[in-house]
Amino acid sequence: MNPEYIFTLFILIVLPLLYLLILTKKTHKNLPPGSWGLPFLGQTLSFLRAMRTNTAENWVQERVKKYGPVSKFNFLGTPTVFLHGQAANKFIYTCDCNTLANQQPTSVRRVMGERNIMELSGIDHKRVRGALVSFLKPEVLKQYVGRMDEEVRKHMEMHWHGKEQVQAMPLMKSLTFNIMSSLIFGVEQGARRDAFVEHFQHIINGVLSMPVNLPFTRFNRSLRASAKVRVMVKELLREKRQALKQQHTSAAASANQDLISCLISLRNEDDSVLLTDEEIIDNALVIMVAGHDTSSILITFMIRLLANDPSVYATIVQEHEEIAKNKASGELLTWEDLAKMKYTWRVAMETLRITPPVFCSFRKVLTDFEYEGYIIPKGWQVMWAACMTQMDEKNFPDPSKFDATRFEKQSPSPPFSFVAFGGGSRMCPGNEFARIETLVTLHYLLSKFTWKLSCRNNSFFRDPMPVFNDGLSIHIKPRKL
Ligand code: HEM
Repeated sequence: MNPEYIFTLFILIVLPLLYLLILTKKTHKNLPPGSWGLPFLGQTLSFLRAMRTNTAENWVQERVKKYGPVSKFNFLGTPTVFLHGQAANKFIYTCDCNTLANQQPTSVRRVMGERNIMELSGIDHKRVRGALVSFLKPEVLKQYVGRMDEEVRKHMEMHWHGKEQVQAMPLMKSLTFNIMSSLIFGVEQGARRDAFVEHFQHIINGVLSMPVNLPFTRFNRSLRASAKVRVMVKELLREKRQALKQQHTSAAASANQDLISCLISLRNEDDSVLLTDEEIIDNALVIMVAGHDTSSILITFMIRLLANDPSVYATIVQEHEEIAKNKASGELLTWEDLAKMKYTWRVAMETLRITPPVFCSFRKVLTDFEYEGYIIPKGWQVMWAACMTQMDEKNFPDPSKFDATRFEKQSPSPPFSFVAFGGGSRMCPGNEFARIETLVTLHYLLSKFTWKLSCRNNSFFRDPMPVFNDGLSIHIKPRKL
């Protein structure tokens, strides 16, 4: 038997006993209220069950009702404090990096690698984030509108035209994956991209799972897929370095053609590399996972909304008619066209407010700290569902009502209450990328098709990202704006 499996079994039996011993030891610290739950498992299963039945909001509300906005429990084998509310969002997003570090659950760290941005803090985080933003900033991304446009049209040609019924969610995942594959890895349609798709699916399925490395677990499959992707990206790095070396003789390679080429070209003042190969690989992986799943979910929720809400549909179509009537047939969308899609982006923001793709996040406690009179000890993790403030009446009156006009105002809500993209120094650096791909995709969906939901039950569950039970099946008809 593989020694790692023997070790895992040992951990499963011995750790819970040790764990119980430590936790039941008398402590004089004023710990937050709450029960630890079962050894090792804690309340992991009850939370994951709530996510899978789309009742995670109720899980949080019940917890807050029972214990208040600060409570302790055991999640994925780690002592955890659950924080809730706008004050908690502000505290976490503005907390110094000596108190809270951005450590993800063990499964995320093992699958994505130790040097991925979500694991880093302090100057390392700043350096890696700066490198990623040098590619993800609007001034650079505006030159990729045309490439995104081509990917979207190719996708529609292959998967939508000539069809009467499609499943929106898997198609949007495939589209955003292809956009990312082209712009992050520089890998176009073909066998290599197909292999990436397959491996990333396994990575995503096990990235937030019990970190039990046995042959039949999701975690094990995810680890194996991550190892395969790493080998593929290493090979890409080699090829791209070679191509960049020959840059003077060939027009095919440029440091700006994709994220990987950009990262391998970045240098310090003394000409040493800014990021190590391990950092480039870990972060390319994290960007693929963080980027393609989230945006595809946003677009799918917008497709569902537009099928259900005739008034939003009428206004949004009008916006796209205006843009389409000034374009010649086959002419690519431009950065200036996207600037005219103001209402569409407000609809997207309101969709993110009501159905945020990211439900909860984690930080690691580096030093004991006091919060609301309780001591949170070093070594614990902080978990919070930031987006719960988006459905709080105090921040957004009549919160269940879909009202895109809320986002007409410069600041539609109190600080740290609209947090679909997070906040502070960890705020999503991919929000502009997400905006561009969402607007381009919506433009072609609205210009080329009308649609109706095929299935009455268009509910979803979280795994941990939202998943539609039937993939959101829709009947489509061609149209010409
Ligand atoms: C609708 C789409 C998206 C949503 C709702 C979203 C949401 C978020 C949220 C809430 C966080 C912060 C998590 C935390 O504080 O723990 C985050 C971080 C991050 N996102 Fe996004 N994201 C989206 C799209 C993207 C895209 C397209 C990319 C890449 C191109 C991306 C890359 C990242 C990265 C690298 C981080 C980590 C930042 C850091 O730790 O400094 N995201 N995202």
